[in-house]
Amino acid sequence: MKIIKLDAIDSTNTYLRQLSLDEKLDDFTIVTAATQTSGKGQMGTKWISEKGKNLTFSVFKKVSCLENEEQFYISMATSLAIYNALKHFQIPKLAIKWPNDILSENQKICGILIENVIQNSKMTAAIIGIGLNVNQTDFDINLNASSLKEITGIHFDLDEVMFHIATQLKKYAALITERFLETLKLEYESLLFRKNKPSTFQNINGEFFMGFIQGVAEDGKLNVLLEDEIVAAYDLKEIKLMY
Ligand code: BTN
Repeated sequence: MKIIKLDAIDSTNTYLRQLSLDEKLDDFTIVTAATQTSGKGQMGTKWISEKGKNLTFSVFKKVSCLENEEQFYISMATSLAIYNALKHFQIPKLAIKWPNDILSENQKICGILIENVIQNSKMTAAIIGIGLNVNQTDFDINLNASSLKEITGIHFDLDEVMFHIATQLKKYAALITERFLETLKLEYESLLFRKNKPSTFQNINGEFFMGFIQGVAEDGKLNVLLEDEIVAAYDLKEIKLMY
């Protein structure tokens, strides 16, 4: 696997996407940066990370066997890869918060931003961006964020952690290639934060309501059991889990 190491860049996702348009990239080409000047988070947010302390990297993954409406399987495979890599390092109380945040002890330690490369209306590759808080110990109190070091007291080697994530990513991506999609979905759902527990959500109008996370639909929407046995499917913009 080819790894491009940068000292500083606007965003590893943006850089890798442009590179993929400029030249033919090997599958699993990785771009990692010590710091990003415009790190991108989900839904137009910024990803802030202290220079040299964390992992901010992107992986180029060719996609040939997924229909456009099956894109969420890449998200599931990535979440599972990170979850299992972190389990190897004995990070406690891990969970996947839908759609793809990784929590430890109810705090966010990793975010994922997947951008699809579309050619002739068909997804041909995915840029999988991963921001993992590793050795940073200072966080904005409002963010409910933490890091591997803050949780375990251990200083981690960034290359070693990235290697384990990349290895797991290859394993889970192979499940997509082999079309073991149901296996992926079942494992992902089994690790979902607050699954089958009474939970409070906020809808797009700012109103709070109760529900039970049941799992995900194929298109990645979150299935929530509401009152009167109604199951509603929400996308990321429509619902926020309060925790
Ligand atoms: C989130 O909001 O939770 C997703 C954060 C994703 C951040 C990573 S850091 C590496 C890659 N490059 C970016 O600009 N964003 C992703």
